[in-house]
Amino acid sequence: MIPGDKSISQRALIISLASIGKTIIEDILDSEDVYYTLKAIKLLGAKVKKSEGFLEVKGAGLGNLISPKQPIYMGNSGTGTRLLLGLVAGSNALVTFFGDDSLTDRPMDRIISPLEEMGATLICSKNKRLPITIIGARAKGFVLPINYKLLVPSAQVKSAILLAALSARGTSYITEYRKTRNYTEIMLKRRGAFLKFQKIKNNKNIIAIDGTSVLKPKNIKIPGDPSSAAFLAVAAIITKNSSICIENVLHDKFRLTAFSILKKMGANIKIIKNKDDTCKILVKSSKLKNIFINSNISSALIDEYPILSIAAACAKGEAIMEGLGELKFKESDRFNAIIDGLNKSGVAAKSFKDNIMIKGNTKIKGGCTIDARKDHRIAMSFNILSLVSEQPILINGNKSIMTSFPSFFNSLSLLGATFSVYDYKKH
Ligand code: S3P
Repeated sequence: MIPGDKSISQRALIISLASIGKTIIEDILDSEDVYYTLKAIKLLGAKVKKSEGFLEVKGAGLGNLISPKQPIYMGNSGTGTRLLLGLVAGSNALVTFFGDDSLTDRPMDRIISPLEEMGATLICSKNKRLPITIIGARAKGFVLPINYKLLVPSAQVKSAILLAALSARGTSYITEYRKTRNYTEIMLKRRGAFLKFQKIKNNKNIIAIDGTSVLKPKNIKIPGDPSSAAFLAVAAIITKNSSICIENVLHDKFRLTAFSILKKMGANIKIIKNKDDTCKILVKSSKLKNIFINSNISSALIDEYPILSIAAACAKGEAIMEGLGELKFKESDRFNAIIDGLNKSGVAAKSFKDNIMIKGNTKIKGGCTIDARKDHRIAMSFNILSLVSEQPILINGNKSIMTSFPSFFNSLSLLGATFSVYDYKKH
């Protein structure tokens, strides 16, 4: 079983806060990012009861968010912070958000400008980073509908605008030029919000959302996270004589794009859809060959480039991945973290413009220390590479894995991997 999807878990909490009545959330991801989002919704007015496998969230409703006395700490959670800023922008609350070093380093201008255009006030330093104090648009007037072109393909930005737009007087429009994950749209629609979608061509898509007064609660069971599943899948592909079955993974073609890429690289992967919205993924050891990955699918692979780079490092031939500029603004500068980490491990990798080129090799030297840069996906990726390296790879910063996949090492151990913890005090 793979733990719950991080994007859906956090949206379930935030949308439950915005709904009037009780929502039961089943199988929510138990990780640090979700923990901080849960703490935040309580401070904003949700009442939460926990029991084995379930959370019961009694929402405050769109118009009734509380202004907490203290600033809200969001840890490492970009999704939690950006979506909550959107929800608060549509309210009359005053809230300060802050986070850890990595979150404080991430650009927030991409949400500050649309939310200000909708009437909210956002106060922060000149470099447009956290801490941010936000005063919801309804504190001084009303929320203005927006017509926004989403030039950076970001589900977090889109979701922040959608959550603010719920409280606007009139219809807001968001034009997407690249598809991004659409759970906010789906979940809001299921809770009674009025949304319409118009496909223009290829990836261009217009979302129209009306202001509304009430969201109805709807219980939700969180499916397993395909992005977490990708780490286990690559582990099985690159280690000899492996055959694993990953159960309960969200069956969403968009989020399973990395699995299609791995299949194109020659991986033995079978996806079997279950009756609900989940699937089983069967993966066996495979010989991989490198391919060219076009920039037009970069938003579908945004969280999987680190682990796909590990697969590419173990494949035959040269991989070219185009259009990876957004990777520089993730939990760390993943663009450079991938290249540095691979080079240190003895794999030739370099960048040109926003593209990465990796020269695959069936022998990985290792014998190095990798700084995970407080980034869970960088830490997990290089742990997977260490499974096949000739010399051990030491990872600094495995603690970051707690943000999304706390059972990562447990799952790998159950599959037969062994890891040792390096205690620097003993050396
Ligand atoms: C997420 C959106 C993506 C993704 C992140 C989760 C979400 O970020 O990288 O891990 O839950 O909306 P961007 O919206 O910044 O691309």
